[in-house]
Amino acid sequence: MFWLLLSPLLAFLSTVLAEQAPRQIAWTDDTFGPDGPWRALNIEMGPDNDGVAMYPGSVWESWVIEDKYCESEACYATKAGTYNKSSGSTGGIAIGGGLDNYMLGLNLEGGQGTRYMDDISLALSGGSSTIRVKNSSLVLLERQQRIKYPGGQSFQFSVGCLSMGGSGAVNQTFEQENKLPVNASLPPGWLLENKWTPSNSFGMHIGSVQPAMSGSMWFGGYDQNRVIGEILNTNGNPRDGITLWDIGIEVIDGRSPFDFKSKEGILASGNSSIVNGLKVAIDGCSPYLTLPKSTCDSIAANLPVNFDDNLGLYLWDTKSKDYKSIVSSATALTFSFISDSNTDLVKIRVPFMHLNLTLESPLVSTPTPYFPCHANGKGVYVLGRAFLQDAFIGANWHKDINTWWMAQAPGRSIQATTNVVPIGEKDKIINKGGNDWKASWKGVWDPEAVPSNTSSDDKDNGSSKEKPPPSQEEIPPTSPPPDVSGTSEGKGGLSRGAIAGIGAGAGVAVLLLGIGAFFFWRHRRGQAMKSHSDQSAPTESLPHKPYSTYDPTFNPNHLPPQEMPAKGISSSPYSRYELPSA
Ligand SMILES: *[C@@H]1O[C@H](CO)[C@@H](O)[C@H](O)[C@H]1NC(C)=O
Ligand SMILES: *[C@@H]1O[C@H](CO)[C@@H](O)[C@H](O)[C@H]1NC(C)=O
Ligand SMILES: *[C@@H]1O[C@H](CO)[C@@H](O)[C@H](O)[C@H]1NC(C)=O
Ligand SMILES: *[C@@H]1O[C@H](CO)[C@@H](O)[C@H](O)[C@H]1NC(C)=O
Repeated sequence: MFWLLLSPLLAFLSTVLAEQAPRQIAWTDDTFGPDGPWRALNIEMGPDNDGVAMYPGSVWESWVIEDKYCESEACYATKAGTYNKSSGSTGGIAIGGGLDNYMLGLNLEGGQGTRYMDDISLALSGGSSTIRVKNSSLVLLERQQRIKYPGGQSFQFSVGCLSMGGSGAVNQTFEQENKLPVNASLPPGWLLENKWTPSNSFGMHIGSVQPAMSGSMWFGGYDQNRVIGEILNTNGNPRDGITLWDIGIEVIDGRSPFDFKSKEGILASGNSSIVNGLKVAIDGCSPYLTLPKSTCDSIAANLPVNFDDNLGLYLWDTKSKDYKSIVSSATALTFSFISDSNTDLVKIRVPFMHLNLTLESPLVSTPTPYFPCHANGKGVYVLGRAFLQDAFIGANWHKDINTWWMAQAPGRSIQATTNVVPIGEKDKIINKGGNDWKASWKGVWDPEAVPSNTSSDDKDNGSSKEKPPPSQEEIPPTSPPPDVSGTSEGKGGLSRGAIAGIGAGAGVAVLLLGIGAFFFWRHRRGQAMKSHSDQSAPTESLPHKPYSTYDPTFNPNHLPPQEMPAKGISSSPYSRYELPSA
């Protein structure tokens, strides 16, 4: 008899428990510029579900480009989609929205944004379902605000930026004069409070478009396969910043396209005022590596690039034979950090292949390969999406924890699976996965990118398109793997998911609670979910397509000749507009 009762109870219970799981947010297939290409997150806004792609990376409010921004002229933001405030359900907050926090390190002009609240619907990876984050804290951009570049020219925004949460907070409270204070939601806090996720947290690796590697954006957990080596553990949030200790250049494998195998001391080179490192913000809303001019110049001195002083950016000299060698070979720009928890430096390597990005209109009239070091004299230093192609970041926003993490992210040759680990409500540490960084880039780098120096003809005839046939004997023995093998800051063992399951599953009281929770869950699910797929464990219920673009045979050498990004836009939900041809 008891058994008869127990069995359906257990079924209810497992459903309810499985509900509080990491949630993976879907990325757009479309890519965005004009400084990328980058992928963005699949978002819908407001009661009309306006399709608005957004980069992940803000802390506190989300930055949203409003229809009005695009009212009077050709507008680059319409590719990602804009939001219609007039159908908004909740409305304004009578407090200025600022502008500087939209994209850190850039000179933004045109006046404050408008604080507002409306729903943000996050598309879950795997297709059919979305979660609606009610009354989200927004700042609307609707007044022709612009990015001003060093040459004096100003350019439109293209894509808004989604909040990853707020330090020590589940929501953002605004005290207004003569009005009741309002609470505006932040996505991960809302997801926890509404029992979608186990914690107020996120874990992210944005991936890259070239070479193609899908992004990984989780609330309430992280994909451990995206975390390699030592983990930096820092108080506050990524936009508060961290101390960058040095920048270097490394040849990871094969022949060097430089006249050295590795070089350090680049950060402070030529600038005696940089003595104890440099505070840099990590910002997914910003595109570049915004650094002192002296640092950018010291990096650039090793590269075939020309400084464009109107944009404060470096354009690759695509005619130089070194250009192709450097961006195709196993070379990386390295960033060394120290944090609260680390006495040893932690190095994050960004392969030069990821630093062959493309400027598009309106910044330039024809697509132009560029190196994303950016100097603009503002005195705020930021590592943006160019850096985040190779860095995992995450945070636990719980007020007693208030910690964020950063670690090396892998290249695209990792196994095509995810290893999702929930972040517990009060977890202060996360653990690295088992991937080896160098192996994760195998097959992506071209071992023949740097011509052998044995034949001087090769050297002199660098523009020749013919490659010598691969000959293994000529390749120097593999250098020792980079030091990505340090121990992480916590020991593995029983997975956190398993511990949570055992803890929560104990006792009949929990069974009874389960019944109540089930009805609460049904109620809430009916409210919050537009459509649902199924309710089983997270790994099954969210059939993501990890690394959908993964191609083990990929070799940059054997790519078909590639067209520059098309002028017309494909037919995705975010493509309701044709950019004016430049
Ligand atoms: C959203 O905010 C409005 C206005 O402050 C409030 O009336 C409403 O209850 C809020 N909705 C939720 C789900 O919090
Ligand atoms: C040298 O570094 C400081 C920051 O410590 C910066 O303000 C200054 O602009 C740098 N000088 C140059 C020439 O880049
Ligand atoms: C550099 O980027 C351009 C796109 O801007 C691409 O066409 C080219 O193949 C890349 N070069 C290498 C060597 O990867
Ligand atoms: C050729 O390469 C080898 C090792 O890669 C190096 O020892 C030698 O100095 C190089 N010779 C020239 C002329 O650059």
